[in-house]
Amino acid sequence: MASVVTIQKKLGAYYTPEEVTTTLVRWVVRNETDWLLDPACGDGRFLANHQNTFGVECDCSGAVSAVERAPHATVYVGDFFTWAEETTARFDCAAGNPPFIRYQHFRGDLRENALRVCSKIGVRFSGLASSWAPFLAVTASLLKSAGRMAFVVPAEIGHAPYAVPLIKYLKNHFTRVQIVAIRDKVFPDLSEDVWILFADGFGGRTNEILFSERQRFPTSAVPPRGRRVTDGEWTRWNCRLRPMLLSSGVRQLYQAMVESNEAVRFRAVARVGIGYVTGSNDFFHLRPSEASIWEIPSKCLLPTVRNARSLPPIVLDGKTIQHWRSRNEPYLLLRLTRGDSLPAPVRDYLDSPPGIEARAAYKCRHRRPWYVVPDVRIPHAFLSYMSGKTPQLAENKARCSCTNSVHAVEMINGWRTSTLRKVWQHPLAHLSCELEGHPLGGGMLKLEPGEAANIVLPLPRLSLGQSDLNLIHDGISTMQVWRHYE
Ligand SMILES: C[S@@+](CC[C@H](N)C(=O)[O-])C[C@H]1O[C@@H](n2cnc3c(N)ncnc32)[C@H](O)[C@@H]1O
Repeated sequence: MASVVTIQKKLGAYYTPEEVTTTLVRWVVRNETDWLLDPACGDGRFLANHQNTFGVECDCSGAVSAVERAPHATVYVGDFFTWAEETTARFDCAAGNPPFIRYQHFRGDLRENALRVCSKIGVRFSGLASSWAPFLAVTASLLKSAGRMAFVVPAEIGHAPYAVPLIKYLKNHFTRVQIVAIRDKVFPDLSEDVWILFADGFGGRTNEILFSERQRFPTSAVPPRGRRVTDGEWTRWNCRLRPMLLSSGVRQLYQAMVESNEAVRFRAVARVGIGYVTGSNDFFHLRPSEASIWEIPSKCLLPTVRNARSLPPIVLDGKTIQHWRSRNEPYLLLRLTRGDSLPAPVRDYLDSPPGIEARAAYKCRHRRPWYVVPDVRIPHAFLSYMSGKTPQLAENKARCSCTNSVHAVEMINGWRTSTLRKVWQHPLAHLSCELEGHPLGGGMLKLEPGEAANIVLPLPRLSLGQSDLNLIHDGISTMQVWRHYE
């Protein structure tokens, strides 16, 4: 039987605190007779705040609770997208908290149906979209002229590429589109931060987004006043709103650096790729003691960075390898190449019980021969992709390889690794990691390869005054506070 937590995660069923439900309903309802839609009403806590409401909920027990909590409401039990495609109903306003189901779980017929209904209204989401974005696009399309909507949204709206088609759709269909960033957790039990989306004047359009940030959820009668973010500014920031959390001084300085000839993007200096995937890490990574028991020849073993924890700061050299060896860490990759004859000890190891288990693993089963790990490279440097304080870049002086748990960095355009290492220490590079990467929850910062390629690096000749450096340090700590890094 599936546990309550699994079902809750599958349906994205996290119910909203009362101060948020009452406030969002207050923001969108203008008259007692306004007809309000909650497209994923759960136990009806948004519906209970107004007399004339309609809810949709796919989970029967949620729908039963909704009817108990809001007896005046009409509740449709079923999939929102199927209902939305057929209904002719149009609403004065909508409010709620759509399910946040990540793309890995938002799949099959449900997703296909959702994306098809979205494309009918002119919004094309990629396969990486989480469920909440299609929910909001389709909800907007069910509003009457001049309609409003207010929703709890994941803070990912501030950086996720899949949020861009939604925001564009909203700007093309409302006279006002507003995002309120909230620093404190609205859902204390979830690692995910949430922000608020408010849109007004369905049928119009706007070429700006109003953005405001608050430490706590604002229980005001109307949405807080927002700062204007024009289309041009939004585009300059790669269609991300997170940079708007910075003061205008920091933003201006950063943009000046981006446009100056004293800084370059990471992609002009190096290629960022992922390391190899073995399919069975425990089998392919041997400890020195295991390699010696099996008598594996050293030509078949390559030192490797197995995970981000083993990455040293700044330089990976002979001392690092000695340290790993003294701790008997599993840092030796069994590196075999196709066509080579296998030494007898290697054959013994491949045919051992762990080898028989490893060859049944999914990745191994699907490659020929199963024991040749593909894409083993020796990069110039390594970059951590999940970090606490700041991403770590280490020069590879020991000719190691790496698994896909760190980024492999290969220098291009004549750049030297030692130069990259030096400019990486500059606070501008740290601020840039905060802006180009994204928060992962639990205070962590994540850098996808595409995000790493966008990082702005100062050229060695860049010299900034103390006031600019102070601004940059302020920017770094602002972004760290917003991602809850203590
Ligand atoms: C985040 S909860 C919000 C519930 C309620 N609106 C609240 O804020 O307390 C999302 C709800 O969406 C429902 N849901 C998930 N997928 C759905 C779908 N395809 N159609 C209708 N409801 C769905 C879940 O069962 C869950 O109750």
